[in-house]
Amino acid sequence: MNQNPRSMIIGTGSAAPEKVLTNHDLEKMVDTSDQWIRERTGIERRHILEEGKTNSDLAKLAAERALKSAELKASDLDCIILGTITPDLSFPSTSAIVQAKIKAFNAAVFDISAACSGFLYGLTLADSMIASGLYKNILVIGSEVLSRMTDWEDRATCVLFGDAAGAAVIAASDGERGVLSTYMKSDGRLGNLLHCPGGGVSHPASHETVDQRLHYIKMEGNKVFKHAVRTMVDAAVHGLDLAGVRSDKIDLLITHQANKRIIDAVAQRLELPDEKVFINLYEYGNTSAATIPLAMDEALRKGRLNKGDLCLMVAFGGGFTWASALVRM
Ligand SMILES: CC(C)(COP(=O)(O)OP(=O)(O)OC[C@H]1O[C@@H](n2cnc3c(N)ncnc32)[C@H](O)[C@@H]1OP(=O)(O)O)[C@@H](O)C(=O)NCCC(=O)NCCS
Repeated sequence: MNQNPRSMIIGTGSAAPEKVLTNHDLEKMVDTSDQWIRERTGIERRHILEEGKTNSDLAKLAAERALKSAELKASDLDCIILGTITPDLSFPSTSAIVQAKIKAFNAAVFDISAACSGFLYGLTLADSMIASGLYKNILVIGSEVLSRMTDWEDRATCVLFGDAAGAAVIAASDGERGVLSTYMKSDGRLGNLLHCPGGGVSHPASHETVDQRLHYIKMEGNKVFKHAVRTMVDAAVHGLDLAGVRSDKIDLLITHQANKRIIDAVAQRLELPDEKVFINLYEYGNTSAATIPLAMDEALRKGRLNKGDLCLMVAFGGGFTWASALVRM
């Protein structure tokens, strides 16, 4: 008999900046149209962090809301895992900065760089750490300020991304509810299809790298699209198989929110009707690691996800990375 405790999500929270950038605003910035963006992506607006604020500010808000919903104090946390590709600094980690801001001084902290899969990678680790019996309360955060890495002159990418943070508190389960399966996968051969070449030690910041616009997201959208559908279906199928659950048992599918056409294709392959698929990319665009916890928090607050529901979360991102988690809420 398996003596390891199962983990469960005991609280969620999220935060998005107040400032909104609509498709019509973008029409004034690059050669695009509201119609093209809606038809090709499903996105209508995105939230942009104000100057002077940073990733850890958004993450702090989401973290405090998750702690409140879990009815825990920051001092109850023994670990903080934060997924991001837009850290405040190269180092220390953004999780360390959040730790200081929320005063979670009993926690070990680290960041995960798995792009849009960052939250589900974090949830997978948290689940294993809880199962080990060594950790009790783990805060998993996905938080991004992609607007600061977006090339606002590149219409192929600047219409897609937004800023947000989401967080979940993971603790030992009290019974049948909890994380039923997790799955992670990567393929580093495909990294160049979606990446940011500048800023690391390959191309440290210099006048030249700035002139060459190397510090912005570069993406081959068409190729990424195909891999996104393939890998998210792979993650979903493996997650369901690992738990021995059929797709028709799922109450809600939360996929990474990059493009409505990608979400529809994944749902179709899993034979899930629209009412079982959560979509909020109209409002936020692609917020990378923040997408899944933001969507989960919103689904819970809107009553689309309830206690006892079976929720399948799947993500895909740069790396490439992909992951799933099947959770009885
Ligand atoms: C980016 C994406 C929306 C582009 O949609 P698409 O249907 O593949 O469009 P294409 O890139 O083939 O471009 C089609 C045309 O629209 C144009 N176009 C691209 N962006 C545009 C924009 N914002 N407004 C108007 N036209 C645009 C292209 O220049 C191209 O024009 P051309 O045919 O004259 O060369 C889509 O590929 C996508 O969503 N990819 C995956 C993105 C993703 O998941 N990223 C993150 C993963 S975590």
